[in-house]
Amino acid sequence: MTGGAKDVILLNQVYTTYEGADLPVIQDVSLHIKPGEFVVIGGPNGAGKTTLLETIAGLLPVVNGSVTVCGHDVVSDGCTARKKIGYVIQNFDFHPFTPFTVEEVVLMGRYGKIGWLKRHSGYDMEKVTSAIDNLGLTLIRHNQIGKLSGGQQQKVLIAQNLAKEPEVLLLDEPFSNLDMVTREEVSNLLCEIADGGIPVLIVSHAFDALPNRTIRVLVMQNGKIILNQQSDPSKVGNLVRTASVAA
Ligand SMILES: Nc1ncnc2c1ncn2[C@@H]1O[C@H](COP(=O)(O)OP(=O)(O)OP(=O)(O)O)[C@@H](O)[C@H]1O
Ligand SMILES: [Mg+2]
Repeated sequence: MTGGAKDVILLNQVYTTYEGADLPVIQDVSLHIKPGEFVVIGGPNGAGKTTLLETIAGLLPVVNGSVTVCGHDVVSDGCTARKKIGYVIQNFDFHPFTPFTVEEVVLMGRYGKIGWLKRHSGYDMEKVTSAIDNLGLTLIRHNQIGKLSGGQQQKVLIAQNLAKEPEVLLLDEPFSNLDMVTREEVSNLLCEIADGGIPVLIVSHAFDALPNRTIRVLVMQNGKIILNQQSDPSKVGNLVRTASVAA
């Protein structure tokens, strides 16, 4: 899937920062991701993994270098780029009285395609239903999001981003709240998505439920990528551990 294909995600000597931070958090990161790659990003707490995903998603000021997704610069053409990116965030916190059902939250993933003040179509609802079913949420489709468990809410956010039909999928610790069986199911689903040509990038500290396919492993430390290599899934944990200890 990777030979000769164009880079879907391209970072060229990138430095990004948070508002008010003294120094850039991401420093001199270059990265080329091709269609269908399955990327696991590891490294210690505070290494810059979330910041890297936020950088690719065009959510942070780029101090130096350039970031393009599907050929669109995430700064100068951020609106177009972000419509192509699914991003499941690390920290979410729904108030118990959040007035939306699972179905409504998943439908929000379609808003970029539906357009401002337009009504959703049958096709939009097909995508919503398929994402809900794929994440095993069918029976709680009409439940209020704020009254679900952390793992159920995490699945809803994954479903929302699948319903978006992204061309790039970023997930920050998607397994953190999931039970073992669900981890494997979600992992297989992400594998199918990558096999279909969409690059999938996950930040994870858990390497026991990775799909059985070639993985690109990135290890981060102090805002830099200190390891970038392909691996089979059984070796990812050791690679991350060894690189983190040696750094
Ligand atoms: N909103 C923010 N404003 C300023 N600095 C931030 C902000 N968010 C994160 N940082 C800093 O950026 C650095 C990288 O943080 P980041 O959240 O990317 O780490 P991480 O690798 O995702 O860690 P973890 O495994 O704990 O999720 C840390 O030093 C952190 O303090
Ligand atoms: Mg993080």
